Order: sequence, then C-alpha cells, then structure tokens
Amino acid sequence: MIKNISVIEGDGIGPEVIKETIKVLNSIAIKYGHDFHYKNVLAGSKAIEKLGDPMPEESIENCLKSDAVLFSCIGDPKYDHNPRGKRPEDGLLKLRKRMNLYCNIRPIIVFSILDKSPVKKEFLNQVDFVIYRELTGGIYFGEKGRNKNGEEAYDYCIYSKTEIERIGEMAFKAALSRKKKVTLVDKANVLETSRLWREVIKNISLDYPNVDLDFLYIDNAAMQIIMNPKKFDIILTDNMFGDILSDESSVLTSSLGLLPSASIGNNKSMFEPIHGSYPQAKGKNIANPLGCILSSSMMLEYFGMHKEKNILEKAVKNSIEKKICTPDIIDSKLSSTTEEVGNYIEKYILNQ
Ligand code: IPM
Ligand code: MN
Repeated sequence: MIKNISVIEGDGIGPEVIKETIKVLNSIAIKYGHDFHYKNVLAGSKAIEKLGDPMPEESIENCLKSDAVLFSCIGDPKYDHNPRGKRPEDGLLKLRKRMNLYCNIRPIIVFSILDKSPVKKEFLNQVDFVIYRELTGGIYFGEKGRNKNGEEAYDYCIYSKTEIERIGEMAFKAALSRKKKVTLVDKANVLETSRLWREVIKNISLDYPNVDLDFLYIDNAAMQIIMNPKKFDIILTDNMFGDILSDESSVLTSSLGLLPSASIGNNKSMFEPIHGSYPQAKGKNIANPLGCILSSSMMLEYFGMHKEKNILEKAVKNSIEKKICTPDIIDSKLSSTTEEVGNYIEKYILNQ
C-alpha cells in the first residue's frame, strides 16, 4: 500500500521521538512491502519564528491532503513569558479544529508492571481502559477574552447536541468490541453542558442495550482512576476533563512517555502521543519514543494494517520485557537511549 503521511516533528523532544518512529515505520514498510511517503510539515515554535504563525495555512493544507498526520508535540517555555502572545499550542488546537478531529482516543494499558508507577502493584493488574476525549469543543474552543482593562477574564464552555452525539456513537460502538461499559465523566451537579452530555448520551445508550452506561462526576473519577482503575472500560468525557484524566491515568502505566493517541474526524485522522515537548530533555537522547511509536501503531490500524500493528506492538512489549527502556520507566543505571530503543524495535521487526 502507498500512504502519504504528513509529519510534524514539533518542538522539544519531538524530532528525536519522530526519528525513531519513522525508523520503526520503515521497518514495517520493508517487511510488508508498503510505500510510506513522509512530508515534513512546519508547526509550533519553529513556525512562529519563521512565519509568525504556529500553524501556517500551507501546513494545514498539507495535512488535509495526506492519508494521515503523525504529530509529536509542540510547546516551548520561552513563550510562557508573554501570556497574551502567540503560543505553539495554539497551532495544535487550530489543526485539530481545521481537520475536525473531534474524537481523541487514548488507550491506557499497563503493558507490563513497571516499578516506576507509584501505585501499588495489586491495583495495576488488568488495567485496560480507553479515554474517549472530545477534542474540538468545550472550554478549549469557546469564546475567551478580557474585560475591565484586562482585570477580568472569561473562557466560555459550549457544547452542541451534535458534537456530543458524534463522539458518543463512537464510544458506544467501541464498547461493543470491548468490555461493554461506558462511563460518562462530567460535572452534572454544577455544569449545564454536563447536563446536556447526560441527556444526549442516555439517549444514545437506548440503541445499545448490551452496553452498560454509568455516570461519574469528574472529582470522583479522578479518585477512582487511582483507587480502582480496573473498573473502567471506556471513559467518555469532554475536552478539558479528558485532558486532565489522561495525564492522571498515565501514572498507572509508569510514564506519560508511553501513551499514544488517535485523533479521529469524519475522514481525516492524526496520531499523537499524549506527552508534551519535555524541553528539559531536548537533545539528550533520553526521551521515551514509545508514546510516538505506539501512536504510529494506531495509525497502522487506521490504515487497516492489522498484522503490521500487531507485530509493532509485540516488538514494543518485547523491548519492555527485555528492559530496553528509557530512564522514565526503568532505573537510570540500566536504561537505554531513545535511539537504542528505536534500534531494538526496528531489528525485532526486521528479524520476525
Ligand atoms: C494534549 C496536550 C494539549 C491539550 C496541549 C498541548 C494544548 O496537553 O494533547 O493533551 O491540552 O490538548
Ligand atoms: Mn494534555
């Protein structure tokens, strides 16, 4: 198969984790006779410096034309000092909106129990849930601004029935081939948008009699994810709550650096690790490439390449079992570099 992939290397550790991911994708291409064409697309702080825009129009057009987008991470602390100026993150939000990537799927799987999770081991067995995070609405995209000479600020949270329905349908469909349970996380005791979410999701659930639906307030969910993570199958939630719960859930797996995601729209998709640009690690060859590599495996699945996805995930699992890991997930005295992890996975695939 021929696939055109737009690649956004981004900021911080982005170029390093993308390099390993492309290495691994190329080994899949060799093994299975695919032709992956990559196009580097400018975004984030490099695009601000060059063109004054964190997501230039040309980059968006490239992404819209390709079969999928592989995105690493953007963000640079140098923009923290000008809170009202342009930020690299704005570029990511603009791209998600323009590609209409409303459904962000974040699987939380404990591949093998790693010592670095602060959560007791007995809580971690069989943790396997997926967060369905709404990605193009809510407080992230509502009107925002300042009043009273800048001394008052607002962020408007707005959701429509259609926005809730389209991700709701996807979550219920996914539950059918999993443990058949959807948990809607919201703050319906306070927020009107949450009450609309409940109404719409209850309605959808009528079409899925075999799927259990339950409701949890976000504060309670934040606690249950640590106390009783096995109870979850699919967590369905809005943009902001999904952002927070996914970082929290990563603690179960040992490291934010391990977690992938797929951002799905009606006919466009982007694959992005959930970690940020980790500027402190930039250029040190210590960043975990697995979040990005596993995102590319979600991309293979999206392309319908199931064997390819399975072998890639087997290779990742094997690298963890053999302790070929970056220092975020094992003792730094025994750890491997970003590049060594990529090389190991590449060889494993080529030797199958
Ligand atoms: C994520 C990130 C982004 C978000 C930032 C970088 C804008 O934290 O993908 O989880 O909040 O969505
Ligand atoms: Mn986040």
